Amino acid sequence: MTGTHDRTVVDIDWNNLGFSYIRTDFRYLAHWRGGAWETGELTRDNVLHISEGSTALHYGQQCFEGLKAYRCQDGSINLFRPDQNAARMQASCGRLLMPAVPTEMFIEACRQVVKANEHFIPPYGTGGSLYLRPFVIGVGDNIGVKSAPEFIFSVFCIPVGPYFKGGLVPTNFITSQYDRAAPHGTGAAKVGGNYAASLLPGQEAHEKNFGDVIYLDPATHTKIEEVGSANFFAITKDGKKFVTPQSPSILPSITKYSLLHLAEKRLGLQVEEGEVYIDRLDEFGEAGACGTAAVVTPIGGIQHGDQFHVFFSETEVGPITRRLYTELVGIQTGDREAPQGWIVKV
Ligand SMILES: Cc1ncc(COP(=O)(O)O)c(C=O)c1O
Repeated sequence: MTGTHDRTVVDIDWNNLGFSYIRTDFRYLAHWRGGAWETGELTRDNVLHISEGSTALHYGQQCFEGLKAYRCQDGSINLFRPDQNAARMQASCGRLLMPAVPTEMFIEACRQVVKANEHFIPPYGTGGSLYLRPFVIGVGDNIGVKSAPEFIFSVFCIPVGPYFKGGLVPTNFITSQYDRAAPHGTGAAKVGGNYAASLLPGQEAHEKNFGDVIYLDPATHTKIEEVGSANFFAITKDGKKFVTPQSPSILPSITKYSLLHLAEKRLGLQVEEGEVYIDRLDEFGEAGACGTAAVVTPIGGIQHGDQFHVFFSETEVGPITRRLYTELVGIQTGDREAPQGWIVKV
């Protein structure tokens, strides 16, 4: 039952939301048993009861996604490219020998969760959104290193604030000696093991007052791969080209592919997925991090060894970065026309 009488009266200061767990009313839960996904349903219970032998607990057999629902000015609700998250989760499941969740089931689960928790969506104009966290975990009685006998697919949501409370602000980052993924490992899949590997370097970066870690390519440590849990992009000094790294150990960011499209089709830039050498950063006039959480984060500077390289400025946002941000957020919140298929109305 998801009638309005079941709903919590929400008392949230919409203008001061961060990125923290808030228990919302309903989450979607479906089991895979006997070779097929069973029909999922909404539940109020935010605690999973799973076997102590679950492969998700011991062998990291799990994957997840992150996407957002936005309240538009006309009161309608936008999901941004959920088919792309469904496809990426199918790829992550394939890499870890888990059963894929069909796209229709994935989008329907997201829709149900957004509708049932509609009262938790931050109002238009606050910069907030409803963050959705779909995940698949291997469960059931097991001990050997093998794929689980059963799986759970779930989607929960939390209201989150804008990444930048005071508008777009450049952030500094630092390279790390650690890798988040191996050259032919699981870097391109959104699986928990990559994030477990990133906790220590992330903490070290924060202790030194950097926003997060710049991960270099794990084989040679000469090329930029990712920025914490976001992809990297840069604009050449002549302002003509949008460049972003290409590598099998990078998570293929849906935001990055959206920016590649917008940079080319709406800003008229040349676009390139290629190599970004850490010792050739002076080719670029602007740089940024992009992702569902980071949206478009201008990069002030990068610390690499004893070198600190500033791109546009440590305090000002470059003009192309700002245009990309405005275009992307405008599409997500329904203020700008979206390319075909990018917006799914809830
Ligand atoms: C490691 C990593 N890279 C990049 C991204 C950005 O991907 P997306 O734009 O699909 O959110 C994320 C977040 O999902 C991430 O965790």
